[in-house]
Order: sequence, then structure tokens, then C-alpha cells
Amino acid sequence: TAASDCLIVIFGASGDLTKRKLIPALYDLYHAKLLTNNFAVMGISRTSYSDDQFRDYLKKHAKQFSKHFDEQTWKEFAPRLHYHAGDSTKSEAFPEIKSRMCELAAEHDTGDNSLFYLSVAPRLYDSIIENIGRHDMVTEGRAWCSINREQQSWQRIIVEKPFGRDLKSAAHLNRVLGRVFEDDSVFRIDHYLGKETVQNLMVFRFANAIFEPIWNRTYIDHVQITAAETVGVEGRGGYYDGPDGGAMRDMIQSHLLNVMALVAMEPPVTMRADHIRQENTKVLTAVREIRPEVVSKAAVRGQYVAGSHGGKPAIGFLEEEGVDAGSRTETYAALQVFVDNWRWQGVPFYLRSGKRLPAKTTEIVVYFKPTPHSLFRGVSGMNDLTPNQIVINVQPDEGIRLRFEGKVPGIGMKIKSVVMDFDYAEQFQADPPEAYATLLLDAMRGDQTLYKQREEIEQAWRIVQPVLDAWEANRDETIPTYPAGSWGPPAADIMLARDSRHWRIP
Ligand code: BG6
Repeated sequence: TAASDCLIVIFGASGDLTKRKLIPALYDLYHAKLLTNNFAVMGISRTSYSDDQFRDYLKKHAKQFSKHFDEQTWKEFAPRLHYHAGDSTKSEAFPEIKSRMCELAAEHDTGDNSLFYLSVAPRLYDSIIENIGRHDMVTEGRAWCSINREQQSWQRIIVEKPFGRDLKSAAHLNRVLGRVFEDDSVFRIDHYLGKETVQNLMVFRFANAIFEPIWNRTYIDHVQITAAETVGVEGRGGYYDGPDGGAMRDMIQSHLLNVMALVAMEPPVTMRADHIRQENTKVLTAVREIRPEVVSKAAVRGQYVAGSHGGKPAIGFLEEEGVDAGSRTETYAALQVFVDNWRWQGVPFYLRSGKRLPAKTTEIVVYFKPTPHSLFRGVSGMNDLTPNQIVINVQPDEGIRLRFEGKVPGIGMKIKSVVMDFDYAEQFQADPPEAYATLLLDAMRGDQTLYKQREEIEQAWRIVQPVLDAWEANRDETIPTYPAGSWGPPAADIMLARDSRHWRIP
């Protein structure tokens, strides 16, 4: 289904996300004819821009970041982009914001449907949400711009991460949202859930009969989930080194625990959003508490120091712009978690993410147990066989690879690991859409399947909170380092070696 008519109101429109992700994604949706003709965007920020200046600024970036830029389509798309200068944390700004919204709704015939997008610093969330409520902009069906249509209108809000900086602030934000919006109108975004391969996880597991019977503690030894980046903090030093940054909050709490939930969840009753989200939440709820005395074994952090990147010297985190010279922010984090339920008892999930690692890759690796009896031990010098692995490449080179043992052709018995390879691009001859395009379209359709529930977010914070607390308390401990361009601090390897395992080198 196509999107409903609506006005998208972006708070924080002069920021990075709007130009790099939101507008290019909307443009791509428009290009693919997935938007209705009755839609418009109203960007709000304090910077002053005219509509034309705003469009010119966005065009430069759309050329770079959208997937299908062409001048003619941009010409048709651009008149739907508008700008309003104002301080949306101030209640006084809202009568004008409201009247501009009504003007644009009339001009583009969008009806009273509005999709608010919070793309501002998290400390501004509360006041904007409260202003939306105070100015009676959420009407639950009533028309508020006096645009009476036959259908009931809707008002929804998309909230960007970081969704709080700890369990307490996340619960607070959920309460603030709950005072203004019904939960089915709150869209908590996690762009990882919009990635094609992440969505394919459910298809892989539940549309095939062969994997599910072995997807449990009897056959699976452990699971590794890696999100490695080659980039450093890329001009976001101020944010990354601030209270919401660091690899544990920025990647593990938000993206990786949700990917893990999809790997570990039980089959949902139906594909309805609430059923899928219930199953995800159950997995996170079952994650064993990381007690203070196990933090040093279950969690590793690191910070990159000068090293090399792409054959060139790369500076350390402390030298990056916006980063405090004495910063203790982790740019690498690894976490071992256990899901205490029937299916996963005793199976560790290892999650890791870091900046300035040797490769940009996100992958899920399911390691199977060895065969129960080693028939080939000692055959042509072989000791143990390599256990089977399923590697799900989330990005880049999206695909799924099954690794198993095969006989090397020839007289005598020699065994070697071989790979059965499913490559997305090759099979489907198509480039996957950008996660933000998928997710924005879902929000315009009212589909929350790929958005996070209140409880999921709070559970993910519950899991990492003891680690964050322990790191905060051990302020005198020196933070382990790793050279830019390496696979993280040695402690991460030791964490797995302790269990006689090792990280897969992607
Ligand atoms: C964001 C983080 O949520 O995800 C960034 O804030 C990180 O620090 C980014 O670089 C990674 O996303 P992707 O889609 O490039 O893997």
C-alpha cells in the first residue's frame, strides 16, 4: 500500500539527519511513486532559511545521498519542501507553527494527518512533545486545521535515537510521550530494523522449514553479532563524546540487542506488528541480568589510539575534533549475554561494535556444535573439523553463507570447509532500499512492525545498565586502547578465548 496523505513536520531540519537520510529517503520514495500526491514536508529549526534556500541546500545532499537522483523528478518533488524558522522548545513559537502547518495542509491537500519527526538533540525532546500536546495538535481523529475529510485524521511521532541515555531517562521519555500520544502513534526508530537483511531474518527463519528445528541450544554453540565500522567519529565528536555517546549506548543498546532479539525470538503468532514486537520483547526480558561482579567478564570496552586506516596514518579518538582530551568514552564495546529461556539456555550471544576497525561490516554468525562423534579425527592430519556456521551478512555484500565440510577431490580422505553462498544482489538483481525509506513509508502507512515498543527499549536499557554503571564507577581504571585499523582491544579476544572460542574475522 502507498503512504497516506500527510504533512511531515521535521523538528531539527537543519541538522545532519535531514539532509543525509530523511530527505534523500523521501525523494527516493517519491521517485518510486510510493508517496501520494498530497504530501509535503515542513522543516523547522532556528536557522533562518527561505523555502528556496532550504530546497537548494537539500538538493546538494540529495544528489549525493539519494539512490535515484534526477533533475526532473527533483523539480517535481522540491515544491513540497517548506521551511519554518522557529524555536520549537518555546511554547510561544507554536501558534505560528500551527498556522503554517494549516496553510501547507491546505496548499498540498494533505488533510489533517501529520507525522512529526524529532530529529533534535534529545534534551529538547520533552519540551517539543509537551508543546505539541499543549497546543492541541494531537486530535485523535478530530480535524484541527478545519480540514474536514471523510477519513479520520491521524497524528504520529517518530522519535530518533538516542532514546534516553539510561533506563531512568528512557522510562521518563516514554511517560512524556504517553501523556500526549497513544502508544500506537509513537514510532521509536531503529534504522537497523529497516535494513533489508535484518528483515530477511524473519523470512529466513520462519518461511523455511529446515532451519527452525536446529535453531536452539541442542544444535547451536553460540552466536556472534558484529557491527564494525572503519570510520571514526566523522565530525560527530561532540555528540559521541557527550552523555549519549559511546559504543555501548550508540550501537549495542540500540541496534545490536534488537538484531539479537530477531535472531533469538520465538515464531510470532502472526506477522502483525504487535505479535512480532511481543516476541522481541520476550527475548529481551529473558536476557540474564549482568551482575556487577560479572561485568568485567561479560563486557569489554576500548578506545582507539592513532593507527592506520586504508594504508594511511589515522589519528586517535582523543585527537578528534569535539572530543575531550581526557575522554573516557568507549569507541569499542563487546558484550556477552545469555537468554534464560527454554530454547537458548547456556548459549552465549556475543555482541561487538567499534569504530576505526579494519572493515565496514555488520554480520550475524551462528556457530553450530561439533558433530557428536568425530569420525574423521586423525584423517590426513585432521584433528577437529570446523563446526558449521551460518553467516548472515547484513551489510555490505548482503547475503547468507552456509559453511560446511566437504571432501577434497582425490584419492584418500581430505576434508575442507566449503561455502554455500546466497548473494542478494546477484539473486534479486536489485539494490536494497535505504532503511530510512522503508521506515518512513511504514510510518506513513501506520505500520509499527519495524519500530520499537516502549517495553523493548526499557528492557534493552535494563540489560546494559549494570555495565554502564560499573564503567562509570570505575573512573580510575584506565580504559583499554586499540590502534585504529585493528580489531579492538585484546580483552575482547580474551573474553571469547576464556570460553575456548574466537571472533570470526569478517
Ligand atoms: C548510528 C550511530 O545509529 O548508526 C552511528 O549513531 C553509526 O554512530 C551508525 O555510525 C551506523 O549505521 P550503519 O547503517 O552505517 O551501520
